[in-house]
Amino acid sequence: MIKITEISAEQTYPIRKLVLRKGMTLSHKMNGDHDSSTLHLGLFDEDRLVCIGSFMKASKSNFKGIQYQLRGMASAQGLQSKGYGKELLLKAEELLRAKDVDVLWCNARVVALDFYSKLGYEFFGDVFEVKEVGPHFVMFKKL
Ligand SMILES: CC(C)(COP(=O)(O)OP(=O)(O)OC[C@H]1O[C@@H](n2cnc3c(N)ncnc32)[C@H](O)[C@@H]1OP(=O)(O)O)[C@@H](O)C(=O)NCCC(=O)NCCS
Repeated sequence: MIKITEISAEQTYPIRKLVLRKGMTLSHKMNGDHDSSTLHLGLFDEDRLVCIGSFMKASKSNFKGIQYQLRGMASAQGLQSKGYGKELLLKAEELLRAKDVDVLWCNARVVALDFYSKLGYEFFGDVFEVKEVGPHFVMFKKL
């Protein structure tokens, strides 16, 4: 059975380390991890944490209204493309909509662009490089 609940920053660290920071010197800890406005969500399948995403209040001048940034979105190794990411992100959108958040945006890795596009995220601006991680695009969705 699948369950999506709020988790602590620390609970996101093992998947962040393995999936998002493997072979990098970049820390798995993020500024804003412990802000009171930050929401960390975890998807559990039969009590195993298999997908994570962190949602942090962060504004870009390009967007209007209340904005959140999605960070650290990942499904566990070997458990990708099973629908977990989509379920988690749709749940997050529902929770953020209930908080009157207007825009959810992220710095999307090029490998994940189709994932976000399929969920209705649009591109903003040009490709940019994040040191150690690679090329990214800003993507956003009006909630
Ligand atoms: C990107 C990621 C978070 C998506 O989560 P997921 O659990 O694998 O995605 P889902 O199974 O819910 O996929 C939802 C849809 O997106 C598609 N999709 C998922 N990942 C994709 C990818 N990397 N490229 C292309 N399409 C992708 C799926 O095929 C699926 O399409 P469908 O609805 O037509 O069947 C996950 O693959 C991952 O952790 N990747 C490595 C880390 C990473 O790149 N994170 C994103 C940082 S910005």
